[in-house]
Amino acid sequence: MKNIYDFQLRSNDEFKAAQLESIQNPNSFWGEIAETFQWHSPWNSVLNYDWSIPKTEWFVGGKLNITENCLDRHLLIHPDKLALIWEPNNQRDKTINYTYKQLFDAVCQFANGLKNHGIKKGDRVCIYMPMIPELTIAVLACARIGAIHSVVFAGFSSTALAARINDAKCNLLITSDGSYRGDKVVPLKEIVDVALEQCDSIQKCIVFQRTFMDVNWDDKRDIWWHDFVEGLSSHCPATIMDAEDPLFILYTSGSTGKPKGMVHTCGGYMVYTAYTFLNVFQYQPEDIYWCTADIGWITGHSYMIYGPLSVGATSVHFEGVPSYPNWSRFWEICEKYKVTQFYTAPTAIRALAKQPTKIIEGYDLSSLKVLGTVGEPINEEAWNWYNTYIGKNNLPIVDTWWQTETGGILISSLAGVSQQKPTYATQPMPGVQVALLDPDGKVILDKEAEGILTINHPWPSIARTIFGNHQRYKEVYFSAYPGRYFPGDGALRDSDGNYRITGRVDDVVIVSGHNLGTAPIENAINEHSSVVESAVVGFPHEIKGNALMAFVILYNDVIYSPELVGEIRDEVNRQIGPIAKPDKILIVSGLPKTRSGKIMRRILRKLAAGEIDSLGDISTLLNPEIVEEIIESLSKK
Ligand code: WTA
Repeated sequence: MKNIYDFQLRSNDEFKAAQLESIQNPNSFWGEIAETFQWHSPWNSVLNYDWSIPKTEWFVGGKLNITENCLDRHLLIHPDKLALIWEPNNQRDKTINYTYKQLFDAVCQFANGLKNHGIKKGDRVCIYMPMIPELTIAVLACARIGAIHSVVFAGFSSTALAARINDAKCNLLITSDGSYRGDKVVPLKEIVDVALEQCDSIQKCIVFQRTFMDVNWDDKRDIWWHDFVEGLSSHCPATIMDAEDPLFILYTSGSTGKPKGMVHTCGGYMVYTAYTFLNVFQYQPEDIYWCTADIGWITGHSYMIYGPLSVGATSVHFEGVPSYPNWSRFWEICEKYKVTQFYTAPTAIRALAKQPTKIIEGYDLSSLKVLGTVGEPINEEAWNWYNTYIGKNNLPIVDTWWQTETGGILISSLAGVSQQKPTYATQPMPGVQVALLDPDGKVILDKEAEGILTINHPWPSIARTIFGNHQRYKEVYFSAYPGRYFPGDGALRDSDGNYRITGRVDDVVIVSGHNLGTAPIENAINEHSSVVESAVVGFPHEIKGNALMAFVILYNDVIYSPELVGEIRDEVNRQIGPIAKPDKILIVSGLPKTRSGKIMRRILRKLAAGEIDSLGDISTLLNPEIVEEIIESLSKK
């Protein structure tokens, strides 16, 4: 029987051949890769899809449990190999390692706890935790028994947490007393307590003791993690899942309204994340891979948990931030664990590049073999810095383009194997068929072109729906260009067929690598009793990539004060979280609108970016005079 490593592409020719084969014979291509996994029963057909509904099913009828592939099968070969190396926030605290066997035991034990409390296949479990091994354990324990995990990034506010719990109707919540982030201690349980006042579906709240801070306690609802697992067996048979049963829900911002709970399923997601992990990063069994993301985002799900574990990899998980106790922390960790693959975000690279290069010289980074980036387009300066100072002009850099919705990397070079080009994500992965469209939706046939990025054919890890709202799923991703998946990004293509992602073409702004829909932020601002209306746009920012500017109209009788601006910021913080707080807030008497009353965001974007000379024709606006007024206020700032 073949092993997944037999599908690791080792040369550009092999890569090209795989690309071609995956397009000509997608079913046999993915079927052969899927056969390297452990299934309880085989599938009847590899792919069944109809994007007019839209419906996508992979490995139809196949039965499996993803945790058997991530844990059990490795126990037979290398039970004592490290699965996780956990580096705490404070480097003076002890590193905690988990071998595959130890991780298996901890997952089974926690899964038994979930079962004891009545959690069963299909139930939703919300996880709101810091970056500690127990987060990974909780995720895998859910998967073990077929419960659907919904991890909420622990930087979100109580309102945002409550909205996500209520949308998924979660029965149980897993959290910790507090969390350490740099020199801050965040009272997670306190945030949870406020959120749960608004959540009827949660019956139990499991609390891991991380900071030992004082917490309020509800005896009927709250259980300490250590009591929850006390005396439980570390044997828990895996619940057999259909390939198309949901594995998890993960929320992402949309350009309108409430966050979208993207639903990923078991079979296709497993196959695709494993395959792309092995190929993009060219992971070898002895490597030490480190992705600096948070498990609260898709990168953490796919390339810190499921992808690496399903191929038996060793990963570093880091609890802290790159600046604590100082900006050498990342390099210290690379040296300490002899990291071979280092995967981070452009926003982190830009912040690190601001620091004196002397910092880096103090560390031995010779173990590094591959550098990666994800989350937003990487600018040339940041790419060059990464290449020069970390890669020493000698390491492949994989610029991986993908989304929460795509489950896995869709466009990227394969480290050292396929062609790389600075600031270009480069080529679609095998199995990914890309088309660039013009604004009328016509496919652009010229090689060199710029257009709207779309995908023509399913890949195994595409999200199957938005939880509880299939209609919205259809509208957002499959209606703009019928028969194609529309990710919401624009792209450039060069004469060799390499893609450079140019950014969002909708009202999602990526701030420090976090996707933020402008609509929910506007809604939060509008909640303030002094605010009539607001519009939020992104503008370029040196470190964060983009920052947010809010244009706010106040009621006539409200007198402007700096406190008021502070309150508006607090409102955003309360409703969404600190990541969404606008950098700039400008009080205006009106917003530029079309005659049909639509806010002209294009103009606001230009104004926020200071590009007042390229506003274009504003004479068709309902209120062109407002543009002059805004320019004047901006010049006074
Ligand atoms: C952007 C993160 C350019 C893009 C995995 C996408 C990128 C959104 C890249 C998804 C990249 C992600 N180059 N842009 N390498 N990677 N993006 O859902 O706009 O948090 O649509 O998933 O990030 O963000 P999400």
